[in-house]
Amino acid sequence: MHEGNPVGLRSRLETDRYALIGHPVSHSWSPFIHGMFAKQTGRELQYRLIDAAPAEFERAAREFLGGGGRGLNITVPHKPQAVALADELSPRARRAGAVNTLAWSTSGGLLGDNTDGAGLLVDLTDNIGLALAGRRILLLGAGGASRGVIGPLLDAKPASLHIANRTVAKAAELAEFFAADGPVSASDFAAVPDGPYDLVINATSASLSGDLPPLPAHCIGPLTVAYDMAYAKEQTPFERQAAALGAAATHGGWGMLVEQAAEAYRLWRGIRPATALVLSLLKQPSRTA
Ligand code: ATR
Repeated sequence: MHEGNPVGLRSRLETDRYALIGHPVSHSWSPFIHGMFAKQTGRELQYRLIDAAPAEFERAAREFLGGGGRGLNITVPHKPQAVALADELSPRARRAGAVNTLAWSTSGGLLGDNTDGAGLLVDLTDNIGLALAGRRILLLGAGGASRGVIGPLLDAKPASLHIANRTVAKAAELAEFFAADGPVSASDFAAVPDGPYDLVINATSASLSGDLPPLPAHCIGPLTVAYDMAYAKEQTPFERQAAALGAAATHGGWGMLVEQAAEAYRLWRGIRPATALVLSLLKQPSRTA
């Protein structure tokens, strides 16, 4: 059972409260992003950060939602664990095996959604202007971040999607899971076939330990676009690596961050905010936390 929060019982004067729960979360840009969305749509909100270690996650999430929270974003490392909190899952959350957004449904239950894949796709196609149909995509990594985007990438009808991972068994498992959805294959890094690719996406967490994914040089050519799901004010190490190998363009994951937030905002408040302004502010090198 969950503790519901029927809209009719809330004071009209109360500001809607949302939060991001993760570990760590202090670096997060989500309060800034959702604050900008609220200003733009003329509807106030409070958005706070909740740092909860894995053992504390469920209690902290239930406390926030049971105490009147209108919606919750979930980030690393809790996205898979958040599946169990939901009374129902959106098809894309079930496919991703992870929840990054919880919202109260009209029936008073908790809906678990995953907006990460949609966020990446909107950034690649609308913001960057890539046509993915018929293209060859290489996805680096086979963890939660990777699983969350494979379905939406295959929906865009690429010619092929190859998953490369240090632990090959995890890449093979994902390729098998998504086999019915499109032409997906897997290998370790050394055995990545037939470069260069049109699009190379880094979904590894290698940069957290100061490492780079061991990307074979043949994967990048003069027409390759390299996309890092990680983001930094300057180019990320992966972007620099791809640029040094001759990529046509490199992108950090700012757009995915903002677009997944816009999708969550739409789920919570029924309106999808425009993203261009907040994205341009986040990309400004001079902006500090
Ligand atoms: P996330 O939710 O960010 O995907 P994860 O599920 O722990 O986190 O997955 C991390 C991914 O980054 C994995 O694909 C991992 O490779 P392994 O499956 O072999 O562990 C990858 N990764 C982490 N550090 C890496 C490194 N130094 N080099 C290459 N890949 C790395």
